[in-house]
Amino acid sequence: MPKVKFYTGIDIPLEFHRARIVQKVRLLPIDERYEALKKGGFNTYRMDSADVYLDMLTDSGTNAMSDLQLAAMMRADDAYAGSESFKRLEKAVFDVLGKRYVVPAHQGRAAENVIMRAFLKPGDVVPMNYHFGSTANHIRINGGRHIDLVAPDVAFTSASDNQFKGNIDIARLEDCIAKYGAEHIPFIRMEASTNLIGGQPFSMANLMEVRKVADRHGIKVLLDACLLGENAWLIIQREPEYAHATLAEVLLKMCSLADIVYFSARKLSCTRGAVIATDNYQDKLKMDQVVAVFEGYVTYGGMSMKEIEAMAQGLYEATDEEYICQNPEFIRYFVNEAVRMGIPMVTPPGVLGAQIDAKKFCDHLPVKDLPASSLAAAIYLCSGVRTMDGGTYQDVSEDDPDFVADMELVRMAFPRKVLTLSQTMYALDRLKWLYDNRKLIGAIRCHDIPGMQRCFRTPMEPVGDWPERLIAKFKQDFPDSL
Ligand code: F0G
Repeated sequence: MPKVKFYTGIDIPLEFHRARIVQKVRLLPIDERYEALKKGGFNTYRMDSADVYLDMLTDSGTNAMSDLQLAAMMRADDAYAGSESFKRLEKAVFDVLGKRYVVPAHQGRAAENVIMRAFLKPGDVVPMNYHFGSTANHIRINGGRHIDLVAPDVAFTSASDNQFKGNIDIARLEDCIAKYGAEHIPFIRMEASTNLIGGQPFSMANLMEVRKVADRHGIKVLLDACLLGENAWLIIQREPEYAHATLAEVLLKMCSLADIVYFSARKLSCTRGAVIATDNYQDKLKMDQVVAVFEGYVTYGGMSMKEIEAMAQGLYEATDEEYICQNPEFIRYFVNEAVRMGIPMVTPPGVLGAQIDAKKFCDHLPVKDLPASSLAAAIYLCSGVRTMDGGTYQDVSEDDPDFVADMELVRMAFPRKVLTLSQTMYALDRLKWLYDNRKLIGAIRCHDIPGMQRCFRTPMEPVGDWPERLIAKFKQDFPDSL
């Protein structure tokens, strides 16, 4: 970020964009928030966006687009086959990610479907730094299994000063390959800015080590590049060797260490859709077959040409530090302030969102009482801010009812270039109030609905009258405020 020091010494993030189009949001009074929460079954995914003041559920598809992206949409070439827009996307992928061949899909998980169907055999295992839910599902439904290889004592310790909690533990990777055999490992997956452990990056040094191990055993490296720009930015901030590198250089180097790079464009390029990129023509052909069956023709893959144009422009913007630093800088501000207030957060600050350690926040609730689910509901109730339950309930798979997640987190996402600093301070203020009143937060139970991704669909119910007691305390402390 361009260094701007304030005369008064305050350390706040400074935006390098101006808002030209805005969308109104409403802050409902607390009694109406309670009704909205009940209507959504205490599950933040099931709530209506109209009832939400600050939508910090996710950054997926909710990032602000730039003027140049909107302008690019106007020149879309809607041809079914061989569209000029697709050629512009291919050029952007080559310029920014350094890969020659582009396989399009309608969103990140569709790209995962394509990759797993093309390369995974029943009985295979996929070692990775850490899974994302949709990735784990696609590996599983294709008959494989994922194996998480971050160092547990580092990655699952919420308060830490380890700068690269998303690193794969190389000794564990070697053991894994020795145990299962390279022939049962289609690729080693690295997820940039590992989402479910708090948006934590891996280092370039670690990726280089992974590449060496992969080469030694003849295994491909698969890079999930959803949050690649931010991971690259943190490499520049935290890995001395890259302190003077540009984002464009770091992005190219990271991608050069992978055989297949894929991303949800809902994140990396602030649009919709997804891309799989490779330099291997045979691999492209294998994936094209799946695209043609599940996504559409191989020059649009289920996306509109307008999205493809915006995506191409968005990729170039992923090399722009002034855009990319906005998300990690707001999160750094939020996390540092919250820690100063005594609130248990995931540290060091990561990307995507500020993450609360719900187990510590609600240390009076055992995991079976779903503290992350309760905390997400309580945050909405006292603030109108929608967050994501990132605990056992969100990560659970359909075939393991006794499953307990590695961490119980609540994610407060910062969609890129969307929230203002005063809104961020409001969210912090209400979080501090809730922390001071945390003992009022009670348990939550879910009405089990079997099947994958049940976190999207399942209604929950508070145990006892804790929401009413929380509301009474709120009204006492804020008699004249929404
Ligand atoms: N990989 C990672 C690391 C992700 O974070 C996501 C989505 C996907 C793959 C799937 O992409 O949604 O386009 O199908 N993450 C969203 C989130 C849903 O809220 O973090 P998708």
